[in-house]
Amino acid sequence: MSDTLNPGLEGVLLDESALSYIDGDDGTLLYRGYRIEELARETSFEEVTHLLWEGQLPDASTLSSFRSTLAEQRAIDPSVDAVIETLVAAEEAPMAALRTLISMLSAYDSVQADDDLAQLRETACHVTAQLPTLLAAYHRRREGDRPVEPDPALSHAANFLYMLTGEAPDPVIAEGFDMALVLHADHGLNASTFSAMVTASTMADLHSAITAAMGTLSGPWHGGANAAVMQMLREVDASDSPPTEWVADALEAGRRIPGFGHRVYSVTDPRATILSEASEALATAAGDPRWIEYSTAIETYMREEKGLVPNVDFYSASMYHQMGIPTDLYTPIFALSRVVGWAAHIVEQRTDNRLIRPRARYVGPQERPVPPIAER
Ligand SMILES: CC(C)(COP(=O)(O)OP(=O)(O)OC[C@H]1O[C@@H](n2cnc3c(N)ncnc32)[C@H](O)[C@@H]1OP(=O)(O)O)[C@@H](O)C(=O)NCCC(=O)NCCS
Repeated sequence: MSDTLNPGLEGVLLDESALSYIDGDDGTLLYRGYRIEELARETSFEEVTHLLWEGQLPDASTLSSFRSTLAEQRAIDPSVDAVIETLVAAEEAPMAALRTLISMLSAYDSVQADDDLAQLRETACHVTAQLPTLLAAYHRRREGDRPVEPDPALSHAANFLYMLTGEAPDPVIAEGFDMALVLHADHGLNASTFSAMVTASTMADLHSAITAAMGTLSGPWHGGANAAVMQMLREVDASDSPPTEWVADALEAGRRIPGFGHRVYSVTDPRATILSEASEALATAAGDPRWIEYSTAIETYMREEKGLVPNVDFYSASMYHQMGIPTDLYTPIFALSRVVGWAAHIVEQRTDNRLIRPRARYVGPQERPVPPIAER
């Protein structure tokens, strides 16, 4: 048994996977062999979901039936909506509300045991289809509006935006949002996927694994970073100082700058490059370059001063903001997409499962006698 310490499991290979390939030294990301740049440009969220779950890009007729299968399962049980009202009344934050609601979905899932791969895939489909409905309903209820019924004629991305606002989304916004979902769908054994796999490795059900992953995603060092980026950009906007001064002060105070740094990427995160272009296009269309200007100034400063490059959460913040999406929905939106990767890894893992159980090097005292209570 090796006693080598690997803090943060850095560099540790846990398993084999055919899902996503990341080369952090040259900024490459592939889903099942396809470059992320090409997938972002050429495919939809539904196509990428099919690719990750089934191993290949769907042809037109397969895509059409896969889209319908997902769309048919969007509606949530009315009793779930009652819980949404309770969570809104308690002023629960959206990410925590979604985590609670995902866990609750198991009570309404006809598939009770995920003990074969077909059932596991069926459950993955239910959960993926219903997450947008839960989040949109939560948001509308807290705004004092009634939830909007899903529209099966709309794509996964467009339907979410429609359920959020009650209005048909602008096609350019819907397309950009769909691309953002494509970019977030999978990313190797990131912390939340690992968390899902740890839970699934005990042969626990998919809802448990996804609930665990949701909790892991919520932290500001993982999916929570996108909302923190927007908070930073707002603070920059409210101050009279240039963005670089805000960042310099934060670094001086020992704070981490959200949206920068990555365990795997050293030169560039290809998703950030794609999102920065999309965010800039929105800024140009709106005639308001503010958010992209702050972002690019911060990027240049962080590269030069710290040698750190933006990650996926940096430009998604200004992009979602320009789409009119409330900041506290950014991290739950990450989950609407990453659920696909969580499920894909769990299915892959189930074909040859082994309990995940690392060890810690013990550094505490040895063999102490228990003193009687009066002597402690
Ligand atoms: C993502 C992240 C957790 C990766 O962490 P990691 O691989 O464990 O890297 P470390 O925490 O060991 O960081 C290495 C060094 O870079 C610094 N660093 C890393 N990210 C930083 C950031 N965003 N801002 C400032 N300094 C940062 C660390 O403080 C550390 O400095 P030190 O060696 O002087 O202590 C980290 O970069 C981070 O916290 N980023 C901000 C949050 C974020 O954007 N998360 C989304 C990731 S997709």
